Amino acid sequence: MQMDSTTTFLDKYNQSVPRYTSYPSVPFWNQERFDVAEWKFRLNKTFINQSGEVSLYIHLPFCEDLCTYCACNKRITKNHAVEGPYIEAVIKEWSFYRHLLTGPVVIKEIHLGGGTPTFFSPDHLRQLINGITEGCTVSEEHEFSVEVHPNYTTDLHLETLRALGFNRISIGVQDFDPVVQGLINRIQTFQQTAHVFQKAREMGFKGVNIDLVYGLPGQTEEGISRTLKKVEVLRPDRIAFYSYAHVPWKSKVQRRYNDEDVPQGLRKWHMYRRGRQELLEMGYQAVGMDHFARKEDKLMCAFRRGELHRNFMGYTTSSNLLMIGLGASAITDTWSAFSQNERVVEIYQDKVRNGEFPIAAGHLLSRRDMVIRRFILSLMCNDQSNIPFSELREAHIDYILDKIPLLEEDGLIQVVGDKIQLLPLGRMFVRNVVAIFDEYLLDRDMNVPIFSRAI
Ligand SMILES: C[S@@+](CC[C@H](N)C(=O)[O-])C[C@H]1O[C@@H](n2cnc3c(N)ncnc32)[C@H](O)[C@@H]1O
Ligand code: SF4
Repeated sequence: MQMDSTTTFLDKYNQSVPRYTSYPSVPFWNQERFDVAEWKFRLNKTFINQSGEVSLYIHLPFCEDLCTYCACNKRITKNHAVEGPYIEAVIKEWSFYRHLLTGPVVIKEIHLGGGTPTFFSPDHLRQLINGITEGCTVSEEHEFSVEVHPNYTTDLHLETLRALGFNRISIGVQDFDPVVQGLINRIQTFQQTAHVFQKAREMGFKGVNIDLVYGLPGQTEEGISRTLKKVEVLRPDRIAFYSYAHVPWKSKVQRRYNDEDVPQGLRKWHMYRRGRQELLEMGYQAVGMDHFARKEDKLMCAFRRGELHRNFMGYTTSSNLLMIGLGASAITDTWSAFSQNERVVEIYQDKVRNGEFPIAAGHLLSRRDMVIRRFILSLMCNDQSNIPFSELREAHIDYILDKIPLLEEDGLIQVVGDKIQLLPLGRMFVRNVVAIFDEYLLDRDMNVPIFSRAI
């Protein structure tokens, strides 16, 4: 694409669009129609349909230091006395679910996210996982994964997690450039990162992955290239190459640097293009929206088999439809209903102590939501819709049929019979493609920010 046409293209498509880790996206949940009794009913129904298999996401929100780019729900503190009461609350919250679920529980997945899970001492992590798995069966093919920041991860953390059955680890890097690290307040050496990486490999973690972000303040194309050269030495199984979500209206800490420091539009697009090209040259294959994996990696195999799935944790290989979120701000997805926990640690803990599910918001999916959700997921996970779009006849089909030729004209998709296939450009702008199927966006001005931009 020529520079001028690229600019026109970006002006058109670089809008504020959801990331579709859920459909409907959280800001469009219908709180008035949400009913806890119905949520419980739907949760248990999926549990029974899944023969008792569950995936757990546990949110551990504490971090010692604040990275100013971060859009996650976190609580900054150096006071480690918060650990004990928080773990107690999470175990108690799980006991509410155990009470609700009518049958033996088989744990397929546990993901510890944050915040910084390794803010917690190895003893507390052991107490947490033992408290959660007690009385449940852990599937033989379980996947236990954890997000770590190398500066706060000791060998003992890794040994403890490995002994508890953890087999996947994502190591947060973002960028090794010292200028960027200074601007985002995250000074992290290559040596420390490589140490955690090698230890995890030696201890037998099967998937050792790295998170990178493009579009960070102060970042340059050359800087990204240098970071990728260092990452290449480590040979991670998967690399997440996320677009920096600049959401200063939500994450006030992002106002600490100037807007001019943040690459946007064409500059950010070139960073993505170069990073993507170099990742492909390093032997990784693009999978989903922002992931790159080795050919033999499970994510890539699931993609080839058409079995990739997407939920609040991002892309996953598990087809499990019941994901229970524990901890402050965690989201539970029963496939036909969503709920999100209280975000503030104290409110979350108080509710749990009072014996109630700490739910702050929720949504019960209508039949129409469910059809659209399946459609959006199939495009995001398989690069093509495996459901004919005539199935959307109950939805806003006239609008969809008007938009499809425009996406075809711009080289994002091609229509084959009654199905849609993403073209290479469409894979990069998949959020924009699937947005035409999102009913909740119909009357919205796409330039009013609720979501981060596509690039
Ligand atoms: C909860 S954080 C990671 C765990 C750990 N606390 C760390 O910092 O390494 C999960 C990942 O989210 C991504 N992330 C956080 N804020 C982001 C933002 N504003 N835009 C894009 N990705 C972001 C980063 O890649 C980060 O590694
Ligand atoms: S990036 Fe990680 S360590 Fe930094 S503030 Fe966010 S959650 Fe905490």
